[in-house]
Amino acid sequence: MQGNNPQEKKKVIFSAIQPSGTITLGNYLGALKNWVAMQDEYDCIFALADLHAITVRQEPAALRRNTLEAYALLMACGIDVNKSIFYIQSHVAAHAQLAWVLECCTQFGELSRMTQFKDKSQKHADNINAGLFTYPTLMAADILLYQADLVPIGADQKQHLELTRTIAERFNGLYSPTLTVPDPYIPKTGARIMSLQDPARKMSKSDENVNAWIGLLDKPDDVVRKFKRAVTDSDARIVYNPESKTGVNNLITIYSAVTGTPVEEFVAQMEGKGYGELKSVVADAVVETLRPIQTRYAQLIGDKAYLAQCYNTAAEQAARIARRTLTKVMKKTGFVMP
Ligand code: TYM
Repeated sequence: MQGNNPQEKKKVIFSAIQPSGTITLGNYLGALKNWVAMQDEYDCIFALADLHAITVRQEPAALRRNTLEAYALLMACGIDVNKSIFYIQSHVAAHAQLAWVLECCTQFGELSRMTQFKDKSQKHADNINAGLFTYPTLMAADILLYQADLVPIGADQKQHLELTRTIAERFNGLYSPTLTVPDPYIPKTGARIMSLQDPARKMSKSDENVNAWIGLLDKPDDVVRKFKRAVTDSDARIVYNPESKTGVNNLITIYSAVTGTPVEEFVAQMEGKGYGELKSVVADAVVETLRPIQTRYAQLIGDKAYLAQCYNTAAEQAARIARRTLTKVMKKTGFVMP
């Protein structure tokens, strides 16, 4: 992937997504769309974070099915295995190995402050396992193994990325420069797509109310119905106001992110129109975005052998890079090397 001339070396991108259930429009607009767009310009490495997924109880057959479906769906979104390395996290043992070393460089207090840990431990009060707590360090290991320069993510992962930077800087300070300190890459429009039912909360695949999120595999009728039911306000004016009107803002943001139309331009187009029309225009734009993805997905998911060939090749490529960093880290930490 990299040219031989060091001056030609492209920046390295790493990102991952959990294969725990439906992939949403929030995932797509906050992260996946950027992953696809970055493939030509950068050396991209993407993973399905199945090790992360088991921090919440998973039914084994469902995890297996969701992982394969997510693999096909991301390829359908445009992840190209000829341009990028796209693998399944648990296939590369170095993630768990580096995570252990980095856990010993992460403070209890730092992990305790992670808002996602606080949210998830409230939501899964019967299973506040150690993995849920140390999850951000595993995420740091994912990124640092590949010496990533940039990490395309939605705004909800920013705090984890800041901790990754802290851990990398700490390791480098303790043992000499070893790990690249990565920067987040967060889109201007779409960084935080909100729930269609409660626009104060992010759109999340774990939301039990199916009307709150759009799945990338939702049928056109379902997309239209969910947008029709989207919560707005009683003001009935289509304006973008970040302080209030969160429901309407979300609809405007979604349209802008799927079509590439600037927010102001779309608001001007919709001047004098009602919320009913806004919802139907946004729904149509989303349906048209999802249509080609769903067609490609239907082809890919039927060819399990091809999918296996893709993820097995990618795992070998990823493991080779990961091993280089892991070896350096192990040596610097003071382990006797085999
Ligand atoms: P996950 O699986 O929850 O989400 C995957 C990506 O989608 C983004 N995202 C959103 N963006 C905008 N609006 C939303 N409503 C929305 N919901 C989700 C997330 O920010 C993310 O970029 N811990 C990560 C997975 C991970 C990872 C990593 C990411 C594991 N290792 C290393 C980057 C680098 C997670 O649970 O994302």
